[in-house]
Amino acid sequence: MQNVRLEKINEIKQHINTLILLDKEASLEVKGLTDEELYYVRKEFDNKSTQIILNRYTEWVIIQTFDKSRKTSQTKEQLRKDGASASRYIRQTKTEDVQIIDYCGNPSFIKAFVEGILLGNYQFNKYLKDPSEKESKLKTIYVLSFDMIQKDWEVLSNVIQAVYYTRDLVNEPPTTLTAVTLSEEFTKLAKDAGLQIEVMDKARIEALRMNGLLAVNRGSIIPPTFTVLTWKPEKAGNSKPIVLVGKGIAYDTGGYSLKPTPDSMDSMKSDMAGAATVASVMYAIAKNNLPVYCMALIPSTDNHIGASAYMPGDIITYSDGTSVEVMNTDAEGRLILADALLYAKQLNPELLITIATLTGSAHKAIGTQGMVGMGNLPEETIQKIIQAGDEEYERIALFPFWDEYKDSLKSEIADLKNIGGGNAGAITAGKFLEHFTDYPYFHLDIAGVAFFSRADNYRLAGGTGIGVRLLYHFLENFSKLR
Ligand code: BES
Ligand code: ZN
Ligand code: ZN
Repeated sequence: MQNVRLEKINEIKQHINTLILLDKEASLEVKGLTDEELYYVRKEFDNKSTQIILNRYTEWVIIQTFDKSRKTSQTKEQLRKDGASASRYIRQTKTEDVQIIDYCGNPSFIKAFVEGILLGNYQFNKYLKDPSEKESKLKTIYVLSFDMIQKDWEVLSNVIQAVYYTRDLVNEPPTTLTAVTLSEEFTKLAKDAGLQIEVMDKARIEALRMNGLLAVNRGSIIPPTFTVLTWKPEKAGNSKPIVLVGKGIAYDTGGYSLKPTPDSMDSMKSDMAGAATVASVMYAIAKNNLPVYCMALIPSTDNHIGASAYMPGDIITYSDGTSVEVMNTDAEGRLILADALLYAKQLNPELLITIATLTGSAHKAIGTQGMVGMGNLPEETIQKIIQAGDEEYERIALFPFWDEYKDSLKSEIADLKNIGGGNAGAITAGKFLEHFTDYPYFHLDIAGVAFFSRADNYRLAGGTGIGVRLLYHFLENFSKLR
């Protein structure tokens, strides 16, 4: 993982590349700008510019302003985007150190701006022969802001590291990132963050009769894994854990219900994005020592074809006796998540959230501007999740979760089948999962947002890490309320 250091300073540094964040309605008499520069900045502001670059002999200065008349969450999002465009300038100019001077007086604004710089600065260069040409050289960001203490910057830095971690895991090619190497990565991560970890191997998975995970794994030459991460600080406000469950399909070929076109397969290394997300969230809450009792469950395998692979028509009997007729081997995510949901019953969760690249249907329904959410939590709790999503701009479109949607999962010869009738595919998938729960439940389908083939501002091409900041901030808010 790249690591840019964030350091609080108390005085302006001279002769260093500088970003100035200011409210354009406030006085522009910013220390350090010449009269000519001030004249130019005023003129550009009148022309409605919000980001102005001044080039001096020895350094550059970027003046950044913002529109306060919008909703705070939107102003923050614009500042993240502005941060990302500043990060492109930082990269092109091979800048190593910058200072940011905050004259805006709103901690959430300076935070969003720095967040945008860091999210935009991410690169996945490990497979390049010569990365130096396009590599970011950024090492340190000095921030002069009286609204933030050094600790605040460390907290932000850990969350960004968590996003980077998800992006790295998603971007890693499928031959190197398997169920086994994924669990090895989690073991390193847990050690680094001080999380408890248990990685169950195939024998243990068999002993626990995780028959969905075993069925999907049958076509693979690599054994499945089931990872449990635990963060239980002494001062946790909750005695029942919040449980996060992430889909860990290392690669999804569709199995014998093979994906229809090659291009529907070329991003399927991202089918473990949910798994990477929940592990990253655990990392961030542990690094930041959040007083919240939380666990993550991660079933993992790839979904392949082969002589021993599971087939359409197969019936899987789960550890609780539920039988599932496999109508489509490409609806494999729900089959492995069901084992995790059954396992969670003994943990007596306060609430459980699944996050998964589960259905093309979620992507089709709302595109890439947000993720699909649904569940049976109390209305108040659902609003808290949605609010965390709005604040981080990892937005949730809440879908209905009516029981009638379950009707289309009826099978003639088993208790359930693994696909619904064709319509409302994201919801019927959610209803399938809910069948295996007996605790408050919420489901996030990130199929549309986990992986981008083209960059959209600070959501760069490849794994986006969307979901990490949402869940982290939901848990942070939750821990403050206890
Ligand atoms: N991993 C896919 C869903 C997906 C699609 C993720 C596009 C990211 C981008 C999932 O396993 C899948 O194949 N779902 C099927 C379900 C169907 C057979 C009911 C789908 O959405 O087509
Ligand atoms: Zn699939
Ligand atoms: Zn899948």
